[in-house]
Amino acid sequence: MAAPRNIVQPSLGEAVSYSMSLSPTNTFHSPPPGHGSFMTGGFDLRAAVKQLKPFNTEDIKILLLENVNETGRDMLKGQGYQVEFLKTSLPEDQLIEKIRDVHVIGVRSKTHLTAKVLKEAKNLLVIGCFCIGTNQVDLDYAAKQGIAVFNSPFANSRSVAELVIGEIISLARQLGDRSLEMHRGTWNKVSAKCWEIRGKTLGIVGYGHIGSQLSVLAEAMGMSVIYYDIATLMAIGSARQVPTLEALLEQADFVSLHVPETQDTANLMSAKQFECMKMGSYLINASRGTVVDIGALVKAMRVGRVAGAALDVYPNEPAANGDYFVNNLNGWAEDLRGLGNVILTPHIGGSTEEAQRAIGIEVASALVRYINQGTTLGSVNLPEVNMRSLTLDDHEHARVIYIHRNVPGVLRKVNGILADHNVDKQISDSKGDIAYLMADVSNIKTEDIKEIRDSLDALSSRILTRILY
Ligand SMILES: NC(=O)c1ccc[n+]([C@@H]2O[C@H](COP(=O)([O-])OP(=O)(O)OC[C@H]3O[C@@H](n4cnc5c(N)ncnc54)[C@H](O)[C@@H]3O)[C@@H](O)[C@H]2O)c1
Repeated sequence: MAAPRNIVQPSLGEAVSYSMSLSPTNTFHSPPPGHGSFMTGGFDLRAAVKQLKPFNTEDIKILLLENVNETGRDMLKGQGYQVEFLKTSLPEDQLIEKIRDVHVIGVRSKTHLTAKVLKEAKNLLVIGCFCIGTNQVDLDYAAKQGIAVFNSPFANSRSVAELVIGEIISLARQLGDRSLEMHRGTWNKVSAKCWEIRGKTLGIVGYGHIGSQLSVLAEAMGMSVIYYDIATLMAIGSARQVPTLEALLEQADFVSLHVPETQDTANLMSAKQFECMKMGSYLINASRGTVVDIGALVKAMRVGRVAGAALDVYPNEPAANGDYFVNNLNGWAEDLRGLGNVILTPHIGGSTEEAQRAIGIEVASALVRYINQGTTLGSVNLPEVNMRSLTLDDHEHARVIYIHRNVPGVLRKVNGILADHNVDKQISDSKGDIAYLMADVSNIKTEDIKEIRDSLDALSSRILTRILY
């Protein structure tokens, strides 16, 4: 749907401001230094950042699949890269054919970048997952080939928090049921067991990017907010952390779940926890389907312990749109559909135009930083390494990037190769078997660059050498 005319869409430059972190708790995901300059294509006023030249930018070939948002496309084209854009994913044979030629591939959730596919990608430097998850990529295999992978884990936090606010009011006023009745032609004006949310207590389980956003919105609506998290986290506004999940369940009128899917969060809400909830309270789950034992929820609703529930996520979710929300997929589906005051949505918590735009900007800017500067901040499969940018005052400098197997003695050999040069700064980090080294070398001639490159390439630990200058 086109945006309504009276809603002003932010320009690319303005949109950048929310590209890295939507949470008021910036500690979760802070923008790297110099972040703005790469994304806007403008200048960082604090220092004139030198654009490094790994190659002629038009030599960089990028394949974007699955209708990646135009914010990301525009940013990559703006860098002068060759960008091929397709609206769909590709069958495996066509994907293999195309991936042979490109340096960068951008995908969403439908394109599976398996070891078989990546084996053919001889020029591939980096993968951009323009989505939240990275399950579709063989991350381990990619790391072993020196291919960095970036995604955008938090760009839709605000969208989820807003959906939950809508659901809290809808459950309190039984809006879903009234609307369904009217669609069937039934006028049913009732006020019994319909409530304002002002003055009620919201219990947030998991006070991360989404939980903390929700906290701000709920307080603005006049709710009291308590939260439970395994980490001790600073409260936003007047919210209050409680020591246990049980303490939260005993006090909350509305319980909203915002934890990740881990072994510890599987069936976090089961029969025992429902018994701790206040009689006539409400449950919202827009986190992951495994967090709630839905059979136990159905029972808790039948006895009135839970007066309403909103579910956006399920243990088994269909791969495509269609008539799939039936017992074949999840054994309790029909029981759940038969209950009153239950809002069921098909995992749309983060599905907004704004979130898609923010994802486009965040992933494209990570790709640009990686291609032009070599920094791996935000990478999900390589160690996160960031180094101060070179400035226009740095003449005859080169940035050496050496991705290698993490075996004893490598640094001694690399430093031996760089020993006759002036190394201004150097950083190295490892993640499992893979290590990433960056060094800025000054007073360097073109013939030295070639020699350094050939010597690094000859080391047995080498996965990939790049030199930016
Ligand atoms: N419905 C959607 O469309 C949608 C969209 C985005 C994210 N999500 C899901 O929402 C959830 C939260 O996302 P986020 O970005 O806020 O994550 P986050 O990592 O920022 O925050 C998660 C919080 O949960 C806490 N936590 C972890 N285990 C816990 C436990 N056992 N008990 C209590 N707290 C625990 C962590 O300490 C952290 O503070 C994730 O499961 C994510 O997959 C859903």
